[in-house]
Amino acid sequence: MEALHPDIERVLFDKEHIASIVERMGAEITRDYQGKDLVLIAVLRGAVVFMGDLMRAIDLPLAIDFMAVSSYGDRAKSSGIVRIVKDLDMDIKGRDVLIVEDVLDSGLTLNYLMKNLASRHPASLEVATFLWKDVAGKQAAVDPKYVGTHCPDAFVVGYGLDFAERYRNLPYIGVLKPEVYS
Ligand code: IMP
Ligand code: MG
Repeated sequence: MEALHPDIERVLFDKEHIASIVERMGAEITRDYQGKDLVLIAVLRGAVVFMGDLMRAIDLPLAIDFMAVSSYGDRAKSSGIVRIVKDLDMDIKGRDVLIVEDVLDSGLTLNYLMKNLASRHPASLEVATFLWKDVAGKQAAVDPKYVGTHCPDAFVVGYGLDFAERYRNLPYIGVLKPEVYS
């Protein structure tokens, strides 16, 4: 096993565990999207690692596109403000859109994105999120069709997830030591 990064308190999902989850999700999507016009939309930047793995686990013709929204800044708490920093290059009208997200936390980002993308009249619009955080308190109404795994209400990094743009390249998902961000 590789050495644990000194800023990580504990590992929640290791490389092998992540790979098995992605395989399962890819198989579910492959089964459900036969004959459809699938477009995967990843939310930059956190979802790029999951997107790269998930798209290769889906055995269907598909297109990919990216959006960037900002809601966090460099802090560990959601501001509630979501703005589009980079829009899609593709017209999604009449296509089967699947939003690929790294983590559903407050739900503010996905809630906003769902409304925004729905207004462009895709044939269907669903969400695949790798992590679904069991948050204490309020979570905006989002009902992801595909969920990798639930995760505790802690600040996690790795597998695309960052704190202040760091740790995205860790091959596992771990809980960041609180002293790193407080
Ligand atoms: P939400 O809008 O609160 O659901 O959060 C959406 C975005 O916040 C995610 O796509 C992540 O980029 C970021 N985020 C939420 N929780 C975490 C975390 O624990 N670690 C790193 N980023 C997070
Ligand atoms: Mg993200």
